[in-house]
Amino acid sequence: MASEPAERVALVTGAARGIGRAIALRLGAAGLRVVVNYQRQAEAAAAVCARIEETGGRATAVQGDVSDRAAVDEIMRQAVAWGGTLDILVNNAGITRDTLLLRLGEDDWDAVLDTNLRGAYLVTRAALRHMWRQRYGRIVSVASVAGLVGNAGQANYSAAKAGLIGFTKAVAREAAPRGVTVNAVAPGFIVTELTDGLPEEVKQRILASIPLGRFGTPDEVAELVAFLVSDRAAYITGATFQIDGGLAM
Ligand code: NAI
Repeated sequence: MASEPAERVALVTGAARGIGRAIALRLGAAGLRVVVNYQRQAEAAAAVCARIEETGGRATAVQGDVSDRAAVDEIMRQAVAWGGTLDILVNNAGITRDTLLLRLGEDDWDAVLDTNLRGAYLVTRAALRHMWRQRYGRIVSVASVAGLVGNAGQANYSAAKAGLIGFTKAVAREAAPRGVTVNAVAPGFIVTELTDGLPEEVKQRILASIPLGRFGTPDEVAELVAFLVSDRAAYITGATFQIDGGLAM
């Protein structure tokens, strides 16, 4: 049986910082029980859990690399041991290794595909087993406008995020008869440590092409994800929502 809304268990991958952290905090504030996955930042993940608990929520941190199958099995085992089930999955973990294609080495291709696409495949497959049995589930993957329009210098990342959007649609079709919805969000430029490292001139160029005239915040992405995993979004599946200030119309 599916859990009551207030008791639902959500796993957010790569949730120690940035957009994943904002999503974990937002879902915690909505009353969900939150599993905060992290790869290396144990202290930051513990701080996210502490913050959720300060406001009356419940959370636990679980270490693990989403691109490693054995690690994913262990993440899922710990998540379900703690929560009793898994109702909601947010595939957020992601990395970039930007360079032009002619210089793009296989290591940087593989690393980006492994984390952003293979990671989502492994975690989604593991999570869906639980959702399938209970005939309820919500899966949201954090893609990118790069997967819709392509970014110069991001052939690996654009391919991974476009792949994630196709994956979302295929799994949405498979899972719909079991009451599981599967959607993606495609953020534009969101201010996090991932984007902090970009050269100032690149940031200014992007800023000039955003109709709303500013970068987005992790909280704004979290708000959209919180809606998509709620019962208010029960009739939405297989969709990709841009959240980019109009950048990629
Ligand atoms: P971030 O670098 O601040 O956070 C990413 C998190 O994922 C980090 O905590 C990192 O440790 C974790 N992570 C990386 N590889 C992992 C692995 N193998 N297993 C487990 N965790 C892993 O980046 P940000 O900006 O918060 O990005 C979050 C997601 O949003 C990513 O999927 C990114 O591609 C996507 N995105 C970000 C945009 C932006 O402008 N910041 C725009 C569009 C999409």
